Formats: sequence, C-alpha cells, structure tokens
Amino acid sequence: MKAIRIHEFGGPEVMRLEDLPIPSPGPNDVLVAVKAASLNPVDYKTREGKFPPVKAEQLPMVLGRDVAGVATRFGEGVSDIAVDDEVYAMLPTDVGGFAEFVAAPARLFARKPRSLDMVQAASVPLAALTAWQGLFDHGGLRSGQRVLIHGASGGVGVFAVQFARAAGADVLATCGGAQKAFVESLGASRAIDYEAERFEDLARDVDLVFDLVGGETQDRSWAVLKRGGALICTVQAPDQAKAEAAGVRAERYMAEPSGEQLAEIGRMIDDGKVQVKLDRVFPLDQAAEAETHLQNDHVVGKVVLSVGG
Ligand SMILES: NC(=O)c1ccc[n+]([C@@H]2O[C@H](COP(=O)([O-])OP(=O)(O)OC[C@H]3O[C@@H](n4cnc5c(N)ncnc54)[C@H](OP(=O)(O)O)[C@@H]3O)[C@@H](O)[C@H]2O)c1
Repeated sequence: MKAIRIHEFGGPEVMRLEDLPIPSPGPNDVLVAVKAASLNPVDYKTREGKFPPVKAEQLPMVLGRDVAGVATRFGEGVSDIAVDDEVYAMLPTDVGGFAEFVAAPARLFARKPRSLDMVQAASVPLAALTAWQGLFDHGGLRSGQRVLIHGASGGVGVFAVQFARAAGADVLATCGGAQKAFVESLGASRAIDYEAERFEDLARDVDLVFDLVGGETQDRSWAVLKRGGALICTVQAPDQAKAEAAGVRAERYMAEPSGEQLAEIGRMIDDGKVQVKLDRVFPLDQAAEAETHLQNDHVVGKVVLSVGG
C-alpha cells in the first residue's frame, strides 16, 4: 500500500511516499481501506519532532491521525462493525492515517455520518473531538453560559463554535477579519477580529475561555473571565498563579480518540445541527504540499487528503 512516512524529523521534504505492507489487524482491531485522511497541526508538529514526544528510535513512522474509509477485515473479538461498513476515527498516536490501509482498535471507530462523503467525514474526528472534550469534558460548559473561543475559524474552532451554540451557550469568538461573517453564521453572537479589535473591550463575565491560540492571547484572557470560571487550552499549560489570582480553574488537555463521542457527533451532523467546513482537498501524494498549506496559509476549516481513488 502507499503511505506517507518520515525517517527523520524536519520540514515537508522528509515526507516520503512509500510502498509498505498492508497492516494486519490484531485482536479487537479493524482493518480499514482509507478513502480520505485529514490534516491537523499535530501532523507538522510531529514531523518537526516538536510534539507529541516521539523519540528518534520510534522512526520511521507514518503520519496522520484522522481517517474515513471502509471496514475490510477484523481481528478476533470485533462484533459491532461489519465488512463494508463506512467508518471514521481519530487514530491513536502509534497508527498513521496517511496511508491506503490502517489497522486500529475497532472501539475507536464510529459509523461515518450518512450525510457526509468520505472527504467530509475525514475532516471531523480529531478537530471535533478536541472541541467536544475541551468545551464539555474539561470546560463543563452548560446552557446559558458565555464562552469565548479563540481561533474560531480553524479546524477545531469551527466545531467548537457550533457545539457551544447547540448546547445553548452564548458564543463570542476571535478570528481573522475576513472570517467574521462566517464565524457568526456558525452561531457566534459576536465574532471579534483579532487584529483590529480588542476582545477585552467586547467580552465580559465569561464562564469559559476555550483557547486554541495561547501566548499573549491567553495572557489577555484572564481579565474577561468571571470568578469561578475556567480557561481551557489546547496549546500550552496556563499559568496557575495567574489563574489563582483571577479566581478561575485553568488547564491544558490532550484530546483522546473516542468512537462513542464520534457517534454522537455524527448524529448531530446528520440532524443538521453541525456542518463541516473544508478548506482544500489534496491527493495523498501531495501530502507535503497539503501540510505546507495548513502550516503557512490562513486555512479556514479543514485540509483533507483523498486516498485510494
Ligand atoms: N491538545 C490537543 O489535544 C490538541 C488537539 C487539537 C489541536 N491542538 C492545537 O490547537 C491549535 C488549534 O488547532 P486547529 O486544528 O484549530 O488549528 P488551525 O486549523 O491551524 O487553526 C488555528 C486558528 O487560529 C487562528 N488564529 C491565529 N492567531 C490568532 C489570534 N491571535 N487570535 C485568534 N485566532 C487566531 C487562525 O486564524 P488565521 O489563520 O486567520 O490567522 C486559525 O484559524 C493548534 O496549535 C493545535 O496543534 C491541540
């Protein structure tokens, strides 16, 4: 099978299209013929050796954490997926999705939403699970609360705005000026241009800051939070002394694969409560160009690889 593999850390030039054996599903695994795989910033951070902690001894490795495809074979013990089922998943860190086949634990997969094609479905798992787990599992967001989402037009932010709105929260969201109307169309009551406006002047009494940006954006966020609120971040550990001074809980977390949560997210998509936003689609053999685009350009929504024709 064709797969995109790295043998060393570095720039996009270390990504090689290679011929590898089709993996064998172990006990409780499903073998999936991948039809599409989406990109996330973690792919270029992994490629650069920055994150998650991958040691040089673990190389070579196939990149990619998100797939949609067709179940083709099973290891022992799998009963709830059948051959030819269309499925999607966020993969664990030791399985690469930029490949024509993946073998991974069946419990991490859910049925692909019926209303999405394979490319759209592949754009969902890691970004949507990150948004879901950050807002609800870590942030405890409830109906009637106010949330400020930083980085609202990116892969995670597009889902976060919609999930928060669907949960009955008032959503304020920062994004580039060109994306304000789009972010408001997703359900933000006010989109804030991060270059031309100061969110501190527009957001008050916020229950939850969901921070997909970090740095000085995070540092300026303490002032908008209610005492008793929370700041939940995907990119850096918040300063606990500043959190204590603001009277809030603050946490960085790592998103986890979950077939159950993906099934629930898929139902929301099929019910028309959540839409997906594709930025651009590339073929598998242009994975390096796709990663360069995600890393360097102002991507809106998700970048996806179409795999296997
Ligand atoms: N911990 C975890 O498990 C986990 C999971 C998923 C993602 N992450 C991390 O979370 C971050 C976001 O992920 P993603 O997939 O959404 O990335 P993405 O698709 O690259 O989106 C990032 C967004 O942030 C916006 N942005 C940049 N600077 C900003 C600022 N100062 N204020 C407001 N918005 C700003 C960008 O807008 P412009 O392009 O218009 O500037 C872009 O839309 C990444 O660093 C990623 O690695 C962590």
